[in-house]
Amino acid sequence: MISEKYINDAVAQFEKVLRQQAERGEKMKEASAPKDFASLDTITIGLCGGDGIGPIIMTEAERLLKKLLSDELACGKVSLKKIEGLTIENRMEKGEAVPADVLEEIKSCDAILKGPTTTPKGGTMESANVTLRRELDLYANVRPVTVPEEGIDWMFYRENTEGEYVLGSSGIEVPGLLSMDFKVTTDEGTRRIARAAFEYARNNGKTNVSIVTKANIMKKTDGKFSKICNEVAAEYPEIKAEDWYIDIMTANLVNKAIRSQFQVFVLPNLYGDIITDEAAEIQGGVGTAGSANIGDHYAMFEAIHGSAPRMIEDGLAAYANPSSIFKAAEMLLRHIGLTEKADKLSEALHICCDTEKKLVVTGFADGDTCKDFADYVMSKI
Ligand code: IPM
Ligand code: MG
Repeated sequence: MISEKYINDAVAQFEKVLRQQAERGEKMKEASAPKDFASLDTITIGLCGGDGIGPIIMTEAERLLKKLLSDELACGKVSLKKIEGLTIENRMEKGEAVPADVLEEIKSCDAILKGPTTTPKGGTMESANVTLRRELDLYANVRPVTVPEEGIDWMFYRENTEGEYVLGSSGIEVPGLLSMDFKVTTDEGTRRIARAAFEYARNNGKTNVSIVTKANIMKKTDGKFSKICNEVAAEYPEIKAEDWYIDIMTANLVNKAIRSQFQVFVLPNLYGDIITDEAAEIQGGVGTAGSANIGDHYAMFEAIHGSAPRMIEDGLAAYANPSSIFKAAEMLLRHIGLTEKADKLSEALHICCDTEKKLVVTGFADGDTCKDFADYVMSKI
């Protein structure tokens, strides 16, 4: 016998989330003008250490920024603000994914460079990343992956605030019988990520955008995503938009014969999460990839990977790769308009990661250490 109580509770839960999401969709239509960094007297960059290997790679990132931005820091054009408290210990103690006082501090900054944060398994606590992306409305997750010797220059535009993630902690369960999660795709949420991807393509001379979904199966949500991306594509006649399914695109990325032809990807949240780890691995490992979370008013930059608790347990923390957070720092500098500094860092990273490669971080004791590699990069600046 199916319990009527569970059905009624589930229907009530569904009504609640449906109303919430409809309201979110409505609110998105009132978007205001994005922040203009050029008009700020001082640009405040917040630094959050995070958990696991986070504080180790962030220590090096802070050293790097202090060196690279010494002039801007001296004249007050940029200020660095350390934000404590985004740690698993503090979050568990307060029972909040991002404690309110920490969120306020984060919101007082113009951009954030953040170490990875640990998400407790099970329980009800949401991932700090998911909370921050929602609270700061960081709707575009932008992830570049390059393999110069193969001609690979990919840019992923992953939708970052909805899809499978937005209600990931609000599913329904009938114990012993079934569980149901929800996937949400709004018109405006899709339009703004599509625009971000096509604008990037246009401004960077790209000629091809791949719209990646599973619209043959997820007919409502991915169907909408594909349809709206194609509508936006019509405003960019010089760019070829192509629809792909996520399964074959995952195969395409390991197909050396064709993979370098792809340029820009736009895709829903969960597919974007998965395929960007695959792409990062092709580049040399998740330790080599940076990630930007961009909204109209806030922006947060981070490594593509997690806090690597296993590296800590195995005593390998000192061998963590800082390249990922350095690449994130480069994206941050570009975002706030310090293009020359971003180019300088990009050039140093290119020498150390792609061409000279005098030191190599493997994540194991056979490789170079995080600190030595950071010194190496800084020696090229
Ligand atoms: C990422 C991470 C996050 C995600 C986790 C930490 C919640 O894997 O940024 O890709 O799933 O988005
Ligand atoms: Mg991920």
